[in-house]
Amino acid sequence: MNLTPKQIVEELDKYIIGQSKAKKAVSIALRNRYRRSRLPKEVREEITPKNIIMKGPTGVGKTEIARRLAKLVRAPFIKIEATKYTEVGYVGRDVESMVRDLVETAVRMVKDEKKHEMEAKVKPVVDTKLVDAICDARRAQNIPVDRTLVAEELGSGKVEEEVVEVSVLDNPTPMLSVGGPEINLGSMFDGMMPQRRKRRKMTVARAREVLTADECERIIDKDNVYAEAIRRTEEEGIIFIDEIDKIIGKAGGSNNHDVSREGVQRDILPIVEGSTVATKYGNVKTDFILFIASGAFHVSNINDMIPELQGRFPIRVELDNLSKEDFKKILTETKNSLPFQYASILKVDNINLIFTDDALDEIADMAATENETSENIGARRLQTIMELLLEDISFNASGEHPMLDVTIDKAYVQNAFKETKKKFDLKKYIL
Ligand SMILES: Nc1ncnc2c1ncn2[C@@H]1O[C@H](COP(=O)(O)OP(=O)(O)OP(=O)(O)O)[C@@H](O)[C@H]1O
Ligand SMILES: [Mg+2]
Repeated sequence: MNLTPKQIVEELDKYIIGQSKAKKAVSIALRNRYRRSRLPKEVREEITPKNIIMKGPTGVGKTEIARRLAKLVRAPFIKIEATKYTEVGYVGRDVESMVRDLVETAVRMVKDEKKHEMEAKVKPVVDTKLVDAICDARRAQNIPVDRTLVAEELGSGKVEEEVVEVSVLDNPTPMLSVGGPEINLGSMFDGMMPQRRKRRKMTVARAREVLTADECERIIDKDNVYAEAIRRTEEEGIIFIDEIDKIIGKAGGSNNHDVSREGVQRDILPIVEGSTVATKYGNVKTDFILFIASGAFHVSNINDMIPELQGRFPIRVELDNLSKEDFKKILTETKNSLPFQYASILKVDNINLIFTDDALDEIADMAATENETSENIGARRLQTIMELLLEDISFNASGEHPMLDVTIDKAYVQNAFKETKKKFDLKKYIL
């Protein structure tokens, strides 16, 4: 992960409009991980990450920032919902499972990278197996075979679609879950149980993938992979805790519900503070994992969190409400914007959807007005408006007609909603 803070923000800007404070905070936190990693060990041990809390109304981009970040960083990253966890002893997931999930992600990452490196190495073995399989398949159909020729055909890519039978690993991993942590039986018995194999028919192209994965799995040093995965989890891991406000009781509240929520906060605390969690790959120290928490904080406040937990999230950023201008930009300047998505989808059914600029203005205006007059649901309002606006076209497009240009202009937008406004109260309909 070597992107500079500016590059990270630039990347986020492609998908998320505004919210520069939040973008800046996460980009700095990410870069600090890298900066720290370049320091001598003694200094490094002293520097713990500055965890972040993002606070802001619903639908303004909190989760979206996390999602984009996840794609951007090549670090183990998971996003979890705080509400999924329960206090130890209750039904639900225990909080330590978030660390186990993170390691799992890291293991997958490292394995993928190793496979990439190994592909060239295992190619000759895989090719030989493929040639064998093709020869067998042809012999079975009484076609005379010549290995050298088959090898040539394979090399030239002419036989990719031919169906062959290969022996593949067949090990559905039994999972045992008894309310508490999940125990992966498959890996507990790794190496103890003989691996079952099964013969399967598939195309040469698919067989190459399967055999390559198989061979890599065989020669990759698993202990190395696990050690590296744990190192990355500890040094580079990021856990994004969404909906953190939902595990905070109302100020002064003391009913049972609030008590159990406080219990979850107390359980999370040691993980954020730094503790050791046992996973099936080994122990993981959580001291240097970066936590980014986010919530709307409608009814509760950051200050209602138990003080110890508050103290572990020193950086707080507020996300802004979105304005009409922001909505317009979301419609026009983001990568894979809603109009673009709808146009792409309808093209499949021979509709060439074109939005005029004043139509997009009108939609943005409508979204802003609706958010003001009824409930404020942020940018999600755009989705409800677009869906309603294009309902007729989406319903009638069938693909059985030649390509049709359909232009959505201001008048179309106004018309579409004049109707609905008359029939139902727009607010009720949209929500
Ligand atoms: N600033 C923004 N720029 C572009 N798109 C946005 C922005 N804010 C929200 N969206 C879009 O609106 C939708 C909802 O956003 P998101 O899931 O990030 O909301 P949230 O802030 O996490 O809300 P909640 O508090 O309800 O979880 C997403 O599809 C997202 O792409
Ligand atoms: Mg969210």
